[in-house]
This record gives sequence, C-alpha cells and structure tokens, in this order.
Amino acid sequence: MGAEEIQRVGVVGCGLMGSGIAEVCARAGRSVVLVEVDARALARGRSRIEASLRRAASAGKLSEDECGETLARIELGTDIGALGDRQLVVEAVVEAGPEKVRVFEALDKVVEAHDALLTSNTSSIPIVKLATATQRPEQVVGLHFFNPVPVMPLVEVVASLLSSEESVGRAEGFAVDALGKSAIRSKDRAGFVVNALLIPYLLSAIRMVESGFASPRDIDAGMVEGCAHPMGPLALADLIGLDTTAAVANSLYEEFKEPLYAPPPLLARMVDAGLLGRKAGRGFYDYTDGGEVEG
Ligand code: 3HC
Repeated sequence: MGAEEIQRVGVVGCGLMGSGIAEVCARAGRSVVLVEVDARALARGRSRIEASLRRAASAGKLSEDECGETLARIELGTDIGALGDRQLVVEAVVEAGPEKVRVFEALDKVVEAHDALLTSNTSSIPIVKLATATQRPEQVVGLHFFNPVPVMPLVEVVASLLSSEESVGRAEGFAVDALGKSAIRSKDRAGFVVNALLIPYLLSAIRMVESGFASPRDIDAGMVEGCAHPMGPLALADLIGLDTTAAVANSLYEEFKEPLYAPPPLLARMVDAGLLGRKAGRGFYDYTDGGEVEG
C-alpha cells in the first residue's frame, strides 16, 4: 500500500497538533475522520481548522472553493469506533503516556484493516510503549509533526524496536508523497532529534526569565535580531503550549536524568496557573492585549 492507496485517514485528538494534522491530510485530498473526547473540544478544533484555512486563503494559497472542499473532507465525532475503516491513524492526544496507551488499545480493537498503520504524533513518549499496547506492534510508527502543522515542513519518522521496515517506509512515504513534508528519521528516544535539541534551549530561556537575567521581550529579541530565528524562545514556548513544553521536558528528564532537561519551577507554576501560552490567551505574553507577564 503506497501513499496513493492511503485515502482514509483518522486523527485522534483535535488540539493544536491534531487539528493541524487533520487539515494537512484533508488538504492532500484525503478523507479524514477526526475524533475527540467531547463536543466542546471538537468545536474548538473545527474553529481552529476554519481559521487556518481562512489564513491560507487570504495568503493566496487556497481558493474559497478549496477551503470548502477541504472542510467537507473532515468528519468530526466523539466515537473512536468511527475509525474502523481507516488505513492510517495519527494519534495526537495530550502528551501523557497513559492516555496515549489507552488510545492505542482502543485503536487496536476498532481499526479493521490488517495492514493499517497506527501512528503517533508524540514527541517524547516511547513508540514501543504504544506499540506493545496493540496486537500489531510492527505497524506502530512515530510520525511527529511540528507546529503550525500546515506551515512547518518537517515530520520526524520514528521506528520502535518492533516496527517493521515496511510500515516505517509506508508511513514516511505518506508524509513525504501525500502530505509534501520532508522527513528525517530518529531512533525511539525521548524527544527524538528536534525536541532533544530544542527543549533545553527553551528551558534555558525560561531559567533566564526566572532568575531576572533579562525580560522575555529582550530574550526573544536577542534570538530574533541576533540569530535570525523566526521567533524567540519564549514566544515559541507560548506557541507550543507551556503544558506541552513541560510534559516533553519531564519525559526527557525521566529518560536521560540530565539537569538540562529538568523543567524550571517557573514553568511548572505557569502550567499550574493555567498560563499555557497562546492557546490560553496568556503565557509569557498576554495575547489579549499584547502585554507581558511578569516572571
Ligand atoms: N496555512 C498555510 N500557510 C500558512 C498558514 C496556514 N494556516 N499560516 C501561515 N501560513 C504561511 C503564511 O502564508 C506565510 O507564507 P509565506 O512565507 O509564503 O508568505 C508563512 O506561513 C508565515 O506566516 P506569517 O507571515 O503569517 O507569520 P510569521 O511570519 O509571523 O510566521 C510562524 C509565523 C510560521 C509561526 C514563524 O514564526 C515560525 O516559523 N516560528 C517557529 C515555529 C517553530 O519553531 N515551530 C516548531 C515548534 S516545536 C514543535 O512543534 C514540536 C512539538 O513536539 C513541541
């Protein structure tokens, strides 16, 4: 089954990543079933996809008709049983091992095709833990997308010790040939390539704010103006979501026990406070009035 033959895609979870993944699959002409636990989360996911399509249309990347057709290809629901006929499923629920394991147990029961690919967008949970929650571990592969999914070209393709090379090749083929992404491969280690490098950098910036070394705006301006990064580390942590940043840091710390991966207390307190970044309206910056939150 090549990329062309994969026409029916499922996505579990419609947060920032799941809604972006559903959008790019639908933009690639695939039928998408997007499943969430509750109707409110689904409605938020749908608005996010609509807003992203409007943005793509206003940038001249899609016509109005194509926006409508893309939306029409996405079916939203709360029943994971609706994924029964899918040929490839991407799990994109919250970055927590037990939740993801539950999703893979359920997918193993409901997805009918014996050669369906069960993939995860996790950035830090071992793929092999998800694989062993199923009776078909050879078909479980990591497909890690980047935020914003419609804009970022990269997908990390992760084989566990139990993945078959055929499944890994098919998953990579889908990301590259169907979705037009570029792929890199990583071993099944927490953080894979990109987050293992990115998270210590984000945490260092948060430690700088915590110690009063410099303000968020100055740290961000330093990296944008001084190193030509598209955005500074604190704006990027806000974009990723501080809960996700903390969850990935915790997984990295658990795996490697290196102090550079340990989330600083300020990050934990901001998550406790619900200051989760852009999606919550407030993180290191206030997205409702453009102000800055004091560390
Ligand atoms: N669909 C299609 N295209 C879109 C779009 C959408 N929904 N939204 C934006 N675009 C396009 C724009 O049209 C524009 O295209 P152009 O260059 O051809 O004109 C381009 O994307 C940039 O968009 P904007 O000009 O509107 O916005 P900015 O220039 O401010 O860029 C940004 C915004 C793309 C977010 C940029 O700041 C950036 O690249 N930031 C870094 C993001 C990053 O590092 N992401 C990785 C996070 S790590 C991660 O996700 C892993 C996880 O596991 C933690």
